[in-house]
Amino acid sequence: MELMKAIALRKSVRAYNDEQIAEEKIDTILSAGSAAPVGMGRFDNLHITVIQNKDIINKISAGIKAMMKREGDPLYNAQTLILVSSKEAEAPGIDYTNASCVMENMLLAGADLGIGSVIVWGIAMVVEADQSLKDALSIPEGYHALIGASFGYAANADQKEKELVQKIQTSRV
Ligand SMILES: Cc1cc2nc3c(=O)[nH]c(=O)nc-3n(C[C@H](O)[C@H](O)[C@H](O)COP(=O)(O)O)c2cc1C
Repeated sequence: MELMKAIALRKSVRAYNDEQIAEEKIDTILSAGSAAPVGMGRFDNLHITVIQNKDIINKISAGIKAMMKREGDPLYNAQTLILVSSKEAEAPGIDYTNASCVMENMLLAGADLGIGSVIVWGIAMVVEADQSLKDALSIPEGYHALIGASFGYAANADQKEKELVQKIQTSRV
């Protein structure tokens, strides 16, 4: 698929069916993450966790519900979560910038494979706040959970491309 088509197809999916993502597709998504730009090429500062354990997914979902005081499943029945963690950055913001680049590549790779996704802020918040969850997820010592997303197959197959328009306030000087 052309890149601009994958960009137009990627949009937040907030209802997933029960179908699991095949291992080789997860591998493709992870390889796309590792192709992202990362400050000084320090890929060793980053860590990715693929979460498919139902008990852990339920625990994260319950944690987000409690934290955000909201009803419904904040993970939208996703069968797979992917979390990017990082060591403390050498300079402010580098950790989040790296993690964002990696995550966006993974979201776009998912779109290319027909796999929906949505960044869910509470995933990283809940994991980072709970050392027992970090241990259960084997997040290495010294790494902080920064960005998590739900991945899966959309319950509603309607996957229209979005119109590519400029929405962000821009100055050209
Ligand atoms: C930092 C960040 C946090 C987000 N947190 C959530 C979230 O907690 N729950 C959710 O449903 N969507 C979340 N989103 C998805 C955005 O709402 C969504 O990307 C935005 O509205 C644009 O829509 P699109 O992804 O369909 O293009 C988040 C996105 C980002 C980048």
